[in-house]
Amino acid sequence: MSYQVNPARGRFNAAFFSALGPTLERSLRPYKQVVFAGLPSTVVELGPGVGANVSYLSPGSSLVAVEPNRPMHRRLRAAAERHGVRLDLRERTAEGTGLPDDAVDCVISSLLLCTVADPAAVLAEVRRILRPGGTYRFVEHVAAPAGTPTRVLQRGLRRPWGWTFEGCSCERDLAAAVRGGGFARVEVRPHRLHTPFVTFNTQISGVAHA
Ligand SMILES: C[S@@+](CC[C@H](N)C(=O)[O-])C[C@H]1O[C@@H](n2cnc3c(N)ncnc32)[C@H](O)[C@@H]1O
Repeated sequence: MSYQVNPARGRFNAAFFSALGPTLERSLRPYKQVVFAGLPSTVVELGPGVGANVSYLSPGSSLVAVEPNRPMHRRLRAAAERHGVRLDLRERTAEGTGLPDDAVDCVISSLLLCTVADPAAVLAEVRRILRPGGTYRFVEHVAAPAGTPTRVLQRGLRRPWGWTFEGCSCERDLAAAVRGGGFARVEVRPHRLHTPFVTFNTQISGVAHA
């Protein structure tokens, strides 16, 4: 499926993640520090947005950034420059990165699989481009357990949330999606944030090994 950039909402989300990114990052950092530990010198990131994860790469390393949403690009470039990371920015989708088979050691993403139209297609693309032994490291927000107040809220807010955040769904079982993604081994742990964005607080982090 092709990605439709919405210039107005794209600009809104670029500004939103730029403004609130540091606050969100304080909550997410403990989990990212675990799964993004020891990243290799070249990393592919799917949907990097305005560059929330650039600081987890060592200065001098290379980031192949697959980001179809052009309004994110200026801030992403600035973030890479600030952290001394070489940026190879590709205006493509996570479903069709254009990278060769078995080409990369490490793919990362955060808050991506909630937004893409077809998480299974993205995970198949991750598997395709990872070398055997390579890793996919992720932090994502997921559906709360059925019947909980958070789950009810996720359901109730699905339309305005999805519209505002360009297709984002708080109702996905992404642990099951990654486990079903054909990886050799998957480590995934649930965690809960304590942000005012209640529907976003139920999360997972993990590493899938190709
Ligand atoms: C919720 S934002 C998260 C951004 C960033 N990863 C972060 O953690 O702050 C989702 C990002 O995924 C991107 N995105 C949406 N659909 C995509 C697709 N099909 N392929 C690649 N990126 C996509 C959006 O443009 C946006 O930058």
